Amino acid sequence: MARLSCSPLLLLLLVLSSQLALLVAGEFLRLPSEKDVVGTRWAVLIAGSNGYYNYRHQADVCHAYQIMKKGGLKDENIIVFMYDDIAGSRDNPRPGVIINHPQGGDVYAGVPKDYTGADVNANNFLAALLGDKSKLTGSGSGKVVTSGPDDHIFVYYADHGGPGILGMPGDEEYLYANDLVRTLEKKHAGGAGYKSLVFYLEACESGSIFEGLLPGNISVYATTAANAEESSWGTYCPGDDEGAPPPEYDTCLGDLYSVAWMEDSDAHNLNAESLKLQYERVRDRTSAGGTYSLGSHVMQYGDLGLNDQSLFVYIGTNPANDNASFVQGSSSRRLPGGGVNQRDADLVHFWHKYRRSAEGSAEKGEARRRLVETMARRSRVDSSVELIGGLLFGSEEGAKVLDAVRSAGQPVVDDWDCLKSVVRTFQERCGPLTQYGMKHMRSLANLCNAGVREEAMDKAAAQACAANPSSLF
Ligand SMILES: *[C@@H]1O[C@H](CO)[C@@H](O)[C@H](O)[C@H]1NC(C)=O
Ligand SMILES: *[C@@H]1O[C@H](CO)[C@@H](O)[C@H](O)[C@H]1NC(C)=O
Repeated sequence: MARLSCSPLLLLLLVLSSQLALLVAGEFLRLPSEKDVVGTRWAVLIAGSNGYYNYRHQADVCHAYQIMKKGGLKDENIIVFMYDDIAGSRDNPRPGVIINHPQGGDVYAGVPKDYTGADVNANNFLAALLGDKSKLTGSGSGKVVTSGPDDHIFVYYADHGGPGILGMPGDEEYLYANDLVRTLEKKHAGGAGYKSLVFYLEACESGSIFEGLLPGNISVYATTAANAEESSWGTYCPGDDEGAPPPEYDTCLGDLYSVAWMEDSDAHNLNAESLKLQYERVRDRTSAGGTYSLGSHVMQYGDLGLNDQSLFVYIGTNPANDNASFVQGSSSRRLPGGGVNQRDADLVHFWHKYRRSAEGSAEKGEARRRLVETMARRSRVDSSVELIGGLLFGSEEGAKVLDAVRSAGQPVVDDWDCLKSVVRTFQERCGPLTQYGMKHMRSLANLCNAGVREEAMDKAAAQACAANPSSLF
């Protein structure tokens, strides 16, 4: 070998081939650019709540829009669902402005109001995702995802949820996991609707929306704020040690998983950041320093083969971050974790409002009334569910049925029509479940899993809630 390498010709060949190898390697390392991503990028952004005490969900969605916009997506390809009752709320200390970070600027300006108010509902969301204009109701912009086989779709949803369901602003309306997954399957059918789709989902028990339901072979990659059995967390909440909002805000400004992916996206060149890397960074922040005491387990579902793709493929990248690689952008600075369990964020709002308003003022009285009413409604929902279980199975066995958790990898229920009918019956007899009551969805699903059907449920609910007429609330 030593002798051979002395031959000038061989040396030349070696040099040439190593340069060739470098060229080839360079080709592989080259970052994807606009021309590598054929097709169109689409985004569907939805906040499923309303009310000033839910400020954070619409703030998250407005912020997400700004990221899409800076990333280069066109308004005609971004569909926004938000109730739009925050910026103009009389509770908003900065009229016409929405912020998503304690020191953050306005994220509301320029957000297209495709679907607002009552038009934010499960039917319109699924119709827009599917690209089926004929199924829309109401008076929204009519924008739907008319994507083709080369296109990439990004979906982001922020709201309350429960096992197997996501909230919508209407008090008695939910989006069921099987309807969502079926819509994704339908969109994918024959490879016609998209090349690949990324779904980021913030809600309590959000893992239950995809666990055992989202197939790995329809080119959908999802991450969720929480696993199937835990709540997700609000952040930048009043009273937080770190990252409390400006004092005039008595509501949380964001949700932990949501601001984690968005602040990460804001800071980096997304050409150089893979879906997997963002998942890891968001997972770490959302874990609240690995304690999970004020945080949750971020999960991945679906086609994990998409892990190595760059975020750029889906949400573009802000040209101002061209030189901000993930290495430069990462810092050891501790980022604020969770502030308030999503389910308690409304109580925190009413409590802070009560505390801050002047003694004897109408505002103080109103905040107190809302606080007391919310607590009473919660305990009424809790006791109604418990009573129904007891009436159907006896109190000991009933508690077992209600509290059962299926093994990992199984959906919360097999018969979704049964679950829908049980929920409908509950609400008819006992009043709205409310966003808090979504936490009982696993217990209601367990009734179906244990063989309870409509007639027995109706009888039990009528009896359980007769003493608690919903007209009281
Ligand atoms: C995905 O896999 C399932 C189970 O193997 C199969 O039934 C289904 O047809 C596949 N779907 C697609 C779109 O390939
Ligand atoms: C990135 O760095 C290059 C080379 O130094 C420079 O020409 C370019 O303006 C920088 N881009 C941004 C957005 O700062």
